[in-house]
Amino acid sequence: LKILHIVGARPNFMKLAPLQRELAHTTHQQKIIHTGQHYDSQMSDIFFEELQITPPDYHLGVGSGSHTEQTAKIMLALEPILRAEKPTCVIVYGDVNSTLAAALVSVKMQIPVVHVEAGLRSRDFTMPEEINRLLTDQISTLLLTPSQDANENLLREGISADKIHCVGNIMIDSLFFALQAIQQFPQKAQKSFELIKKFGEKKYILSTVHRPSNVDDKESLQRLFAFFAEVARENVVILPIHPRTRKQLELNIDISAFPANFHIIEPLGYLDFINLQKNALCVLTDSGGIQEETSVLGVACFTLRKNTERPITLELGTNTLIGDNYELLFQKIQQVKEGKSKKGENIPFWDGQTASRIVNVLERYF
Ligand code: UD1
Repeated sequence: LKILHIVGARPNFMKLAPLQRELAHTTHQQKIIHTGQHYDSQMSDIFFEELQITPPDYHLGVGSGSHTEQTAKIMLALEPILRAEKPTCVIVYGDVNSTLAAALVSVKMQIPVVHVEAGLRSRDFTMPEEINRLLTDQISTLLLTPSQDANENLLREGISADKIHCVGNIMIDSLFFALQAIQQFPQKAQKSFELIKKFGEKKYILSTVHRPSNVDDKESLQRLFAFFAEVARENVVILPIHPRTRKQLELNIDISAFPANFHIIEPLGYLDFINLQKNALCVLTDSGGIQEETSVLGVACFTLRKNTERPITLELGTNTLIGDNYELLFQKIQQVKEGKSKKGENIPFWDGQTASRIVNVLERYF
């Protein structure tokens, strides 16, 4: 087989890494195309290094822009590469703009599209990711899902059962890889070990926020940061800041008056971030992947969104939806401190073996 992986944004890289490693042990050919949707070294390069992903064979360098601009630039740059490479299939990951753009170019050129992390649905069309997920799944040849609920979503949308395979959650393959790397080479996670030492294990709250619904609207952003300031009166809060959020903060909020316990830091690499999650009292986030990682790590996660495309983390994991009900969140944080929080159970197929199941499916199908 000749496989082209197409990735572009931070949450793609930890999904690519295990599959690339697994395929490297076979005779199949593979190449990586990086669209350049994320370009800062802390948003991209560091993940390639830490997860030992081979450098991209092509870099499209599309950068930022409106959704249309970004999608269109990726499509234009990708077409001649696919024409020259003639792959057996293209593999796309997750739900970012790069995912949909790549799937669309490929399907128009009659190149089979394999979607890793298919079938997730929030049913919230104000999220750009929901549009990306839905459309990518409609045009994919093989739909590889992380959990059974995703299969059901796809079947309900009329996708034929023979295209759908529940392979498990590939993010968890990377999570296990990271936990082992942190143990073996603690110096690679030095920043997080220093923070853990300074604040104490299970003594700090870790947070990430970057969803347009939370940070692009000035009023929502101000409410959110007023809440952080309040929480930080009694708790240490660490917030590695996404570039989108930093821009909005600089425009709208004076953070100099915030309590000293509120630590806004640069985005972290993967190993440092996993290590901080593992040792946190709890996590407050609007990310998708972090709902999954905390569930497997057994750390309480409070999701600052009204819905989730990952309901299994509510059912079997440690996740609770909070939306913007900050009053409730104060109570929840108190409960965690009293040792009263969801512990989570094993989620089927979130076992670190997803990449190998994917290779099996690819070999059977193509
Ligand atoms: C994208 C994904 C989102 C994912 C997130 C993880 C889409 C629609 N969204 O959102 O699903 O959860 O990545 O990070 O694809 N920027 C930088 N440096 C970078 C990358 C971005 O400064 O390396 C800035 C851009 O200039 C832009 C903002 O961050 O202003 C947003 O970047 P963009 O890739 O458009 O979307 P994300 O919010 O990162």
